[in-house]
Amino acid sequence: MTQDFIVGKDGYEGGEEVWECSQDLVDYIRQAGNDITRSLCSDQDGEPLRILELGCGHAKPSWALVSELDKLGVLWTLTLQDLDAPSLEKARETFAQYRNLDRVQFVEGEWSQLGDTQLASTPYDIVLMSETLYRASIFPVLSRLLRQVLAPQSGLCLSAQKRFYFGLDGGSLPFLLYTKENGCGLSCRLVKDLQDGRSNIRDIMAITSASTSP
Ligand SMILES: C[S@@+](CC[C@H](N)C(=O)[O-])C[C@H]1O[C@@H](n2cnc3c(N)ncnc32)[C@H](O)[C@@H]1O
Repeated sequence: MTQDFIVGKDGYEGGEEVWECSQDLVDYIRQAGNDITRSLCSDQDGEPLRILELGCGHAKPSWALVSELDKLGVLWTLTLQDLDAPSLEKARETFAQYRNLDRVQFVEGEWSQLGDTQLASTPYDIVLMSETLYRASIFPVLSRLLRQVLAPQSGLCLSAQKRFYFGLDGGSLPFLLYTKENGCGLSCRLVKDLQDGRSNIRDIMAITSASTSP
């Protein structure tokens, strides 16, 4: 189930495994799902909730969220993003049996290139991501992309990351400090930490545009 980082031949860490924090985000959505959806749905005016998962791998958090939304009868559309077609294969498998697949869009692409594509043309109400912030060098890229894709007033990103990535320089805490110190236009707040005293601390953070309180 869980796995240490493997740097692939192209220098990125792949989504073939289901990473630990992905399961944390699934659990969080299932526990907090009704509250999240209730608050998001209050502003929907009958429009489908727009959901994006960045670096989705198997896209388990998206699956958990749309399952909650279906129980509540809430309309949604979902965009699943990963680096390339092979990276998106696991997400396609997760959603293969889903009866409303026409609501699901698969988008390939490098984060640094996505802000100027259709991804940013209609802002998202909720963005999910897990195990994406493991290198500090990606912080400016993902911050910029989040600013472009999040609905300015109401958009919410739920991000599940390890607090530190040993041997790498990213993590939830370094990213939180980055957003505070660099005026990157995002507000970031810890909503849950997971500590068992035996392994790395893992965090779930709420990220919004800086003008919005998360
Ligand atoms: C550690 S995996 C996490 C996968 C999944 N979110 C999970 O938690 O199981 C990181 C994911 O981000 C994607 N990724 C990494 N760097 C990327 C980049 N620069 N642009 C787009 N996607 C990237 C990888 O393809 C991979 O699916």
